[in-house]
Amino acid sequence: MKQRLRCDETPAWTQLLSHFDQHGRHFDVRADFERDPDRFSRFSQSAPHVFADLSKNRIDAQAEALLMQLARETGLEAHRDAMLAGEPVNSTEGRAVMHHLLRNQPCSDGQGGSLPVFRGAVADAAMPDVNATLRDMLTFAERVRADAQITDIVNIGIGGSDLGPQMAVVALQAHALPGKRFHFVSNVDGDELGEVLEQIKPAHTLFLVASKTFTTRETMTNAHSARRWFLEQGGADLARHFVALTTNLEAAQAFGIRTTFGFRDWVGGRYSMWSAIGLPLAIAIGAEGFRALLGGAHAMDLHFAHTPLERNLPVRLGLLDVWYRNFHGFASRSVAPYHHGLRRLPAYLQQLEMESNGKRVDLQGRALGYSTSPVVWGEPGTNGQHAFFQMIHQGTDIVPVEFIAVREPAHDLPGHHAQLVANALAQAQALLQGRSDAGGHRHFPGNRPSTFFVLERMDPTTLGALVALYEHRVFVSGSVWGINSFDQWGVELGKQLAQDIQPRLATGDVRGLDASTAGLLRQFRPRF
Ligand code: F6P
Repeated sequence: MKQRLRCDETPAWTQLLSHFDQHGRHFDVRADFERDPDRFSRFSQSAPHVFADLSKNRIDAQAEALLMQLARETGLEAHRDAMLAGEPVNSTEGRAVMHHLLRNQPCSDGQGGSLPVFRGAVADAAMPDVNATLRDMLTFAERVRADAQITDIVNIGIGGSDLGPQMAVVALQAHALPGKRFHFVSNVDGDELGEVLEQIKPAHTLFLVASKTFTTRETMTNAHSARRWFLEQGGADLARHFVALTTNLEAAQAFGIRTTFGFRDWVGGRYSMWSAIGLPLAIAIGAEGFRALLGGAHAMDLHFAHTPLERNLPVRLGLLDVWYRNFHGFASRSVAPYHHGLRRLPAYLQQLEMESNGKRVDLQGRALGYSTSPVVWGEPGTNGQHAFFQMIHQGTDIVPVEFIAVREPAHDLPGHHAQLVANALAQAQALLQGRSDAGGHRHFPGNRPSTFFVLERMDPTTLGALVALYEHRVFVSGSVWGINSFDQWGVELGKQLAQDIQPRLATGDVRGLDASTAGLLRQFRPRF
């Protein structure tokens, strides 16, 4: 790909700055609703399995048109197509980014038609392997589902080898096979593994050691402790009870694992729930459910690949993120799923967005003169309303909120769902309208932005589409910012220093440490 123009060097950026000064800074969404009877339809749209209302955001048609121009001037379309074609867009690691191939399956569009697949030399070369692994993994998942001896599945992994499958297993609980319990152990804090080990029996447990690299220290420590526990508890047939999900098949074999499901280095950790890393989910919801998840994501991939930018939902969302971060200066975004099943979604999105776009240099390594990833945070509604929503309504900072609600609940308890949905709608309304009939402490300024996603129901297809929507949206803002959304060098330094510090805890050697770290280390002596 030829070198792309940096966003702050484009004509659109300059025009956006002046549009923001003239119209954006004091833009009142309420006034625009008065002026423009079509505002709701202009700023809302359907994408596969997701309806999105963006109309309560502080954006007008002119700003959105300029953002589209910005996308074109920074080469977003060419960049997207390069990624989809398998070019090495993860340039700092020299890798392609092709998680979309993992869901490159012909599938139904929900209206009786069949969705096309991505074709091309790279896809054609990769697909036989992708399909074979998927088939093997789903066959294995079905075997575990049918095995009444196995009652507990323990996933040992961290970051992308934990958050995606965990979030999805929790979200799709209503679709999960009864009689199997799922545990996720990520932290090296022994309390987490210890708590799980107290609940399980070796003969009835399947351990999944999930690690792309099979070198991550937390995961390896937990895996070794689990193996030791298994043997000490009289567990027999380690090969039956331990499975590895990894790109590093050799290391898994050296650990003593015989059953391994692999994937390629073109699947980033935080983009890996569609790969073998999704095995716990496949066990929970079965082969058909997992294929439906892939199908939903694939439908969103096709929408992202082929819909003109102006009606392309990930593009509109990603550009809104740029507008908020670089022009309005909003530093964070809150995610409020009004669905109990999505309670792990904010944690999942934190890694997806902040590990992808928390970067301070461009693709050439030059420092940026503008902000990148916002802080992404949140809790399910209605709980958040009784905690931090005070700050969102009346605090000094503007925090755009993302509401997510489903039309059909999975339970049949009377009254609950209407109350839940009413609260989500009311919060978005209150943020927009505010309240000026009372002064002082009771005044709500209003004009506080939000986006509202409506999902038909929480099922594998919908979840797949929703997650793919977020993946592509993160790609869009990262692409406009000219950063590499697919590396994560920022996690390395702490890992290295921990290796230096750990032996010092035993010896008490503080030579070369700064005074604070030395002082803190002494606080832990003579414990080690
Ligand atoms: O924290 C960095 C990171 O590399 C994440 O990107 C990744 O998801 C996680 O660690 C786990 O890595 P692995 O799957 O290789 O154990």
